Amino acid sequence: MNDLTQTNGVQWRNTHERYGAVSIALHWTIVLLFLGLYGLAYSVKYTTGYDSEMGELHLYLHKPIGVSVLALALVRVWWRSVNIEPPLPAAMPNSHKLMAHWTHMALYAIMFVQPLAGMAMDIFRARPVKILDVSIFPAVMERNDFLAEHFADMVHNDYMDWIIALVVAAHAGAALKHHIIDRDDVLTRMLPAWAGGKRT
Ligand code: HEM
Ligand code: HEM
Repeated sequence: MNDLTQTNGVQWRNTHERYGAVSIALHWTIVLLFLGLYGLAYSVKYTTGYDSEMGELHLYLHKPIGVSVLALALVRVWWRSVNIEPPLPAAMPNSHKLMAHWTHMALYAIMFVQPLAGMAMDIFRARPVKILDVSIFPAVMERNDFLAEHFADMVHNDYMDWIIALVVAAHAGAALKHHIIDRDDVLTRMLPAWAGGKRT
């Protein structure tokens, strides 16, 4: 495993001081994908409508991006399991450390539950799950509007979009508070060096 630690000065794995390049790339790629997912879904909901050509195109793009989050989340959980986690600052109260831990767990749950609920909506509507035009999961059951609307829609749409936005806002707010008020390295150790990240 040690041969994966550093090449050409790039720190791939996490160390006790900071996150490595792989964790950082996974973290910020998923953040960008979330922004794209919300942008596409909300433009359908609030501007184009579901039945227009533009609305259909946006949802057609939304789905493969959502499935990619699920795939990257799996890679992320595996990578986390074979890496150390940089410890939080010793000065941080235990209650805050616990809160950070549970927020991270909630974010992991979201990265799995939200795409699976999106895929479930297709499955309950008797549609195959597609990445663009390629089917990755066949239509396995008869159309069931009750399940599609009451289970998947509720999990994916009506409450979850706000719950996700709140959890992410709390998480991002805590990271900014560490940087601006506490002036510790919690944010900079999750940034690449070229973006002002901590150098070690
Ligand atoms: C992390 C991944 C995902 C996120 C964060 C996400 C987020 C969202 C959000 C915020 C909405 C708008 C909710 C609303 O109308 O109130 C939405 C709608 C939608 N999403 Fe996703 N989504 C993800 C993955 C997926 C996947 C994998 C699929 C399907 C394969 C999917 C299919 C849909 C569909 C069809 C809608 C339109 C709502 C409807 O048909 O009732 N999403 N998504
Ligand atoms: C969709 C949005 C986001 C998701 C899903 C997400 C997810 C996560 C997760 C699961 C971790 C735990 C570390 C790990 O196991 O890899 C983490 C750490 C972190 N995130 Fe995010 N994050 C998001 C947005 C943001 C934003 C917008 C910021 C900054 C403003 C941010 C800053 C950080 C920082 C600084 C850490 C490291 C915390 C520590 O050292 O314990 N994240 N994020």
